[in-house]
Amino acid sequence: MTDLRALFGIEHPIVLGPFGGLSSVALTAAVSDAGGLGGYGLYGYDGDRIRATIGSLRAATPRPFVVNIWLPRGDEVLPNPQHTVFAQALQPFYEAVGVPVPARPERYLPPLDEQLDAIWDAAPPVLSVVFGVPSPEVVDEARRRGIRVVGTATTVAEAIALAEAGVDAIVATGLEAGGHRVSFLRPAEDSLVGTFALVPQVVDAVDVPVIAAGGIADRRGVAAAFALGAAGVQVGTAFLATAESATTDMHRDAIRSTAADGTALTRALSGRLARGARNRAVRAIEASGTIAPFPMQNWLTGQFRTAAIEQNLGELQSLWMGQGAPLARHRSATEAFEELLAGVPQPR
Ligand SMILES: Cc1cc2nc3c(=O)[nH]c(=O)nc-3n(C[C@H](O)[C@H](O)[C@H](O)COP(=O)(O)O)c2cc1C
Repeated sequence: MTDLRALFGIEHPIVLGPFGGLSSVALTAAVSDAGGLGGYGLYGYDGDRIRATIGSLRAATPRPFVVNIWLPRGDEVLPNPQHTVFAQALQPFYEAVGVPVPARPERYLPPLDEQLDAIWDAAPPVLSVVFGVPSPEVVDEARRRGIRVVGTATTVAEAIALAEAGVDAIVATGLEAGGHRVSFLRPAEDSLVGTFALVPQVVDAVDVPVIAAGGIADRRGVAAAFALGAAGVQVGTAFLATAESATTDMHRDAIRSTAADGTALTRALSGRLARGARNRAVRAIEASGTIAPFPMQNWLTGQFRTAAIEQNLGELQSLWMGQGAPLARHRSATEAFEELLAGVPQPR
């Protein structure tokens, strides 16, 4: 097992999980400055925004950080007529926030090649991927530029596929985690393994360091992850609740006040399975029975979710959070980090 500290050039094996859409330079830099590996989610960013963001991260911290992209799964392009049907199904939500039913955009997401070109130009210290195995070209190019590559697995089979592709480390993410289930070999519904069962099995199956994720929010979770054989932890929800994250106060309060059994896995908001609070938007869309495939549903709901944020309507936002939400007690990134650090075994 390689030491994560040596692999990434960090002081403590604690990774801030990237948040597609909700990462902030301030939070990423705070975790890197504290000696962990700050993570930043580049989901949906075009090439220019990626170059600018990595530039801002470099300006904000002299320490290593990780940026994250979503690999395409081939279900990203959809014909026009379907767009109108699915957009109409969400009409009550657009009406509730006073925005028109949106016409189909030119594209839902920037192409992977455009994102990768920008990443190669900006050469971040670490690149992490979800929803697939990076191609040999991506792994080779990263290696050539001195960029470490991290893959993300929800099952042992996915971890083995990632290790065979030559990634430097693997995030093993259990079903407790906030945000999307990033399964890629089988449907997410058939790949639901809890962190406690997943981590030791992945540790046994691969030779690269394993980073445990899902439900880890305080020193007890960190200590447990190390006892299971993890080389490090990746924490999302506990950091999302801090002042430095890019989310709203309503979301922060929702994290602190949602019980562990108050979150749900749903396809309602994005078309892919993700864990968050079961608010009115989730309940109503599930009840309607009409959910567009990803990324169309994500884009379509995004049009009213953005307006809901501006209008402070928590029931119509996506309140992503994991089952450890009630453990997210700290309001500053530094305090949250110190709490987690207290669970890291000290060198003898
Ligand atoms: C709002 C939100 C957005 C997320 N977006 C991403 C993402 O774009 N890429 C990714 O690899 N993980 C993403 N995650 C997962 C986190 O990086 C992290 O692995 C996860 O939150 C860990 O579980 P926890 O929430 O129980 O701490 C997201 C999580 C949340 C809560």
